[in-house]
Amino acid sequence: MRCRGGTAHRGVSATADQVIYLDHAATSWPKPASVVAAMAGYLERAGGNPGRSGHRLSVAAGRIVYGVREQVAAFFGVPDPLRVIFTPNATHAINIVLRGLLQPGDHVVTTGMEHNAVMRPLRALERKGVALSVVPCAPDGTLEPDLVALAIRPETKLVVLCHGSNVVGTIAPVAEVAALAHSQGALVLLDAAQTAGAVPLDMGRLGVDFLAFTGHKSLMGPPGTGGLVLSPSVDPGQIEPLVAGGTGSRSEWQEQPEDLPDKLESGTPNGVGIAGLGAGIAWVQERGIEELQAHEQELCRELLEGLNCIPGVRLYGPMDPARRLAVVSFTVEGRTVSELGLRLDEEHGVLCRVGLHCAPAAHSTLGTFPQGTVRFAPGPMVSLSQIREAVAAVAEVVRS
Ligand SMILES: Cc1ncc(COP(=O)(O)O)c(C=O)c1O
Repeated sequence: MRCRGGTAHRGVSATADQVIYLDHAATSWPKPASVVAAMAGYLERAGGNPGRSGHRLSVAAGRIVYGVREQVAAFFGVPDPLRVIFTPNATHAINIVLRGLLQPGDHVVTTGMEHNAVMRPLRALERKGVALSVVPCAPDGTLEPDLVALAIRPETKLVVLCHGSNVVGTIAPVAEVAALAHSQGALVLLDAAQTAGAVPLDMGRLGVDFLAFTGHKSLMGPPGTGGLVLSPSVDPGQIEPLVAGGTGSRSEWQEQPEDLPDKLESGTPNGVGIAGLGAGIAWVQERGIEELQAHEQELCRELLEGLNCIPGVRLYGPMDPARRLAVVSFTVEGRTVSELGLRLDEEHGVLCRVGLHCAPAAHSTLGTFPQGTVRFAPGPMVSLSQIREAVAAVAEVVRS
């Protein structure tokens, strides 16, 4: 890597209305104008309860929700839109599978790079008699598929893995792991919270059975949106619903219907959020996912090269932008991450996240537990020149 001279350590001034938002891995911001418009349009023109009543506002709302269901199914390469279950976030979707599928006596395999959205329900299930194996990853977060194969036993029901790390962006070898899991009769749940909208994602091609996604990160939708997608091969009969209740269908029954999505989607859905999610997905498709990925890789390369030139900075994760998402974690010798985050915000208008990023297991793998890291995660609205300013800001904070 070549270090830039001249302007690299130039200071940056920040004003209240001018920030460099590098917290896209927590949630994307700003949202496209079309997302805001779709949400306002839903409230103004289609504010009925979708699938509940027969009047025009309910039908209009139901059409929007079903249209987004179709969009999500097509986006992830699944033919049947009814296999898309809307949830408030990826955490809820992950819990539907873990708590609905696993029984005492079952065995589940996961990795050393998981978010607490996976680890916390798994630790709770472990206390109830579900056996858990955590496959270690390399210090840059890389997962070796052969180690997953070694961990799988005859009673393994599920392999759960994070597609793209929210700490260092490392991409997991999903297709290889899924093939190994299936060859031994286990199902696969993919946590695509960080990759949905960031990399091309086809469930059939990857061979995963369940995909949990969140709507408010790279799909550019609003908070409160996400979902679970079931592949055509999954038998929904094996999943007990996490929540039971009204679905707008089979109202004469006091038992939960077995049909999808109703079985796993009780209660009034977040129609306004789902409308925004649909507009977010359309925005991603219009921009082109490969183009968005290329842009983020360029930003990631600039960050890795720039930060690597600052004395005292230590970077984590793969150094090749092609093997990761644009999620860059670093520490600075002799400085706490909280001081760095505060000064970057207050003195330079650089907004990032510091600490453990809800992923203590991943930080243990990386060797950054318990202090954590500073995380720079630029989204599609961030420019290369903003990345250079952010790197210059780090250099200035480190010097003074
Ligand atoms: C890898 C990973 N999994 C799961 C989640 C949970 O997503 P949500 O907060 O939308 O439920 C996150 C959120 O940051 C994440 O990064």
